[in-house]
Amino acid sequence: MKILAYGIREDEKPFVKEWEQENPEVDVEITDQLLDDETVAMAKGFDGVVVYQQKPYTDTVFEKLDSYGIHNVSLRNVGVDNMNPATVKKYGFKVTNVPVYSPAAIAEFSVTQLMNLLRRTKEYFHKFERGDFRWAPQISQELNQQTVGVIGTGHIGRVAIDIYKGFGAKVIAYDVYHNPELEKEGLYVDTLDELYAKATVVTLHIPLFPSTEHMLNKAAFDKMRDGVFIVNASRGPLIDEQALIDALDSGKVAGAALDVLEDETKVFNHNMVGKNMTYPEFWNLNSRENVLISPHTAFYTNIAVQNMVKFSLSANKDLIETGTSDKLVKFD
Ligand code: COI
Repeated sequence: MKILAYGIREDEKPFVKEWEQENPEVDVEITDQLLDDETVAMAKGFDGVVVYQQKPYTDTVFEKLDSYGIHNVSLRNVGVDNMNPATVKKYGFKVTNVPVYSPAAIAEFSVTQLMNLLRRTKEYFHKFERGDFRWAPQISQELNQQTVGVIGTGHIGRVAIDIYKGFGAKVIAYDVYHNPELEKEGLYVDTLDELYAKATVVTLHIPLFPSTEHMLNKAAFDKMRDGVFIVNASRGPLIDEQALIDALDSGKVAGAALDVLEDETKVFNHNMVGKNMTYPEFWNLNSRENVLISPHTAFYTNIAVQNMVKFSLSANKDLIETGTSDKLVKFD
């Protein structure tokens, strides 16, 4: 059995090695190249491919893999939004993802960033650097006083809820699917409008679908409380960046922690030092003392990376051996 793993980074290599030692019957080859129209030919002769990339998987890639007789594709991440479901189905691909590699990694990071917003650490850092050690006017807010509106109560949202509760914050939640435990606790509100009206913090933990793109737009911000804080460590296009900029200008939004951006693929996880970066919304947002941008790093922990590598290789092996996997993605 032969698996080709695309886009393998240096930090992933030790985990690939470990998995190979645990699965000596599988021949794993790796490349640092991403899977695209130019590199797809490298997969000829393999039984399956393991991939992670933010750039889209083109229809041609699937067409070519199909022509090589390869139909087993395992993602090392959770999001499948850079794949065309119609093409996947057309060629009969079996795609797995890693839905739970470390919900805590993302939940902990999003809470950390909210705390940074509430305690105004970016402003203090800049003042401190200038030698200004005064307290005022950066009076802060406490997490235990917040009503945190968690949108999306899947694995990540649920860990975030536990952490927020641990800090004594009031939590309300919205999801189309209700988790029975949270239901029992009475955390769910019936509508997003209700969440917007009550929450002093809105944190996003939902996938990107056509139906969720720009869900935080002008209309949504208008329904929120004045001085709301926004946290997004999910997918950039969930927020209309221009609408967020306007809401920050008006003071409707008091601060935002963004681990993801609408157009991040051209900049995040690239070394942009000395490079010309044309992304006006990024520059606008990043210039603000009450906006924290991080380059999609919420997931990036030793536990998460190990699980992403090992779980995806095991899922690919399962697909090859049995034709299915408990991590099969249903594209309905
Ligand atoms: C995902 O797993 O879909 C993520 O967002 C993390 C990715 C940057 C590796």
